[in-house]
Amino acid sequence: MLIRVLGSAAGGGFPQWNCGCANCRGVREGKIPAVARTQESVAVSDDGEQWFLLNASPEIRAHIESFPPLHPREPRHSGIQAILLGNGDLDHCLGLLSLRESHPLVVYATDAVRRGFTEGNALYRTLERFPGQVTWRVLAPGRVEPLRGTSDRDGGLEVQAMPVPGKPPVHLDGRVPRQAEDNVAFRIRGRRSGRVLVYASAVGAVTDAVRRALAGADCVFFDGTFWTADELPALGLGDKRAEDMAHVPVGGPGGSLSALADLTAGRKIFIHLNNSNPMLRDDSPARAAVEAAGWEVAYDGMEVSL
Ligand code: MLT
Ligand code: MN
Ligand code: ZN
Repeated sequence: MLIRVLGSAAGGGFPQWNCGCANCRGVREGKIPAVARTQESVAVSDDGEQWFLLNASPEIRAHIESFPPLHPREPRHSGIQAILLGNGDLDHCLGLLSLRESHPLVVYATDAVRRGFTEGNALYRTLERFPGQVTWRVLAPGRVEPLRGTSDRDGGLEVQAMPVPGKPPVHLDGRVPRQAEDNVAFRIRGRRSGRVLVYASAVGAVTDAVRRALAGADCVFFDGTFWTADELPALGLGDKRAEDMAHVPVGGPGGSLSALADLTAGRKIFIHLNNSNPMLRDDSPARAAVEAAGWEVAYDGMEVSL
């Protein structure tokens, strides 16, 4: 299984357009040891030819151009076989609307995520220009689903959507009842290799359900949004704490680094990094702590071969 990180930052990216925090200023001015990152999305393939995108970032066009296997090989063609949505957050879904050049798309999502994106959304009509422009495939929690793209060829991968603590997207929160399937991790298994990738870029707490979702994985991508729960208020960037946004922080006694200390996966990678996160700096104590615990920090262009 091949994994390519197209974008590794949380919503807003790094640097974020309206942010003058020390990290954002530092990376803009080239004064800190850190690299810029686009908003999160990852491409996965069993054969290097048929690619499946995990989330559709607002930066999807640049993501496609950044990675030749996703480029068209015929006058009208895409290396993207299908797109999987882990939740309805705009940093995970907005890219769909950018793929509006009359190309058939296959999208895997839970029913709650599909309805949240399509219902009452006039912009979605741009993806309803012809019958079959978007084929939705329902991810039922826990059910193993083979991945097939527009060509209907076997993608060589299967996915299991595992509900993990999360919430509906900001624009729907309070308007729709919260449901377990608002936010899922993906367990993706290569049928030839038997290797398992668990992709959990939005996780509100480390629960038993999260541990079950991660169990036995060869490679784990995990929510790296914040280092501390009060990161935004402490830096004067907002009043929301990590838990208000359904992201478990990485550091501290209740953080994912200590809660997942016994995770045995061969590769353990934090992704969906908010621009405020000290882990973004190569020289920070937070980065040192993460690496000492055997974790890596995702960057755009990172590749993993399982
Ligand atoms: C999140 O990760 O919590 C969301 O992307 C936040 C947002 O939509 O602004
Ligand atoms: Mn996000
Ligand atoms: Zn910033």
